[in-house]
Amino acid sequence: MKVYINRYPSRVQEFEVNAEGCVSLLDLLYRIREEMDPSLAFRSMCRAGICGTCAVKLNGKPVLACSIKVPQEESILIEPIGGYRVIKDLVVEHEDIYQKLRDFKIWLRPSDENSPISEAVNLKTWGSWECILCGICDSVCPLLQAPSDFGGPVLLTRAHKHAVDPRNKDSQSILGSIQSLKPDLCTHCMNCSYSCPKRLMPESLIREEEGILSEKGLLQRPLGGFDFLSF
Ligand code: SF4
Ligand code: SF4
Ligand code: FES
Repeated sequence: MKVYINRYPSRVQEFEVNAEGCVSLLDLLYRIREEMDPSLAFRSMCRAGICGTCAVKLNGKPVLACSIKVPQEESILIEPIGGYRVIKDLVVEHEDIYQKLRDFKIWLRPSDENSPISEAVNLKTWGSWECILCGICDSVCPLLQAPSDFGGPVLLTRAHKHAVDPRNKDSQSILGSIQSLKPDLCTHCMNCSYSCPKRLMPESLIREEEGILSEKGLLQRPLGGFDFLSF
């Protein structure tokens, strides 16, 4: 098959690859690097959909390279995900995500007691603790395509995890972090939820965070969402 790879800084290179035996797209990238071009740069660590480092675009759609099969097509295009600075070829700068987590102080402040997590809380939080910080949702968020006050779905997903965790002894801090990430700017376009490779729903979590802020009187804009029935 023909594999076109958009290599930094903007050079599309064609490879004629025998994809036999390659199960995942990541296998295909390894084959190209090991047998055809050792200079090809891409990231991967776990090869199991856990570390979040192998996000790329396949035919324009963001995917985790380790978790998607090689498409049965004559030719495919692989590119770096959008919205991040490209370091080389398919490798993008993830440090911005970690820096923002530090800037907005999004972490657990554990309480002194060792409190068990109930099944109900587990069910409530699975949608955020399954996040692997792959960055795909931010890469497709229209609000982040230009400078914006909006914190983005990655940070808001991670913040949700700590906001609803009863082991967090300082819920005021995390609510303050969520408030400064401005979830109310989200347009609820659903791009993030449709693209998440872990099938999480960042958009719903953001909606929930808006509700939590509103209940606490920390959100000025009245809730209500878009009223389709008024048309
Ligand atoms: S739903 Fe909100 S966070 Fe998700 S992509 Fe759209 S604007 Fe961005
Ligand atoms: S919410 Fe989904 S797309 Fe966004 S960083 Fe987490 S795992 Fe990736
Ligand atoms: S290599 Fe870890 S998620 Fe793909």
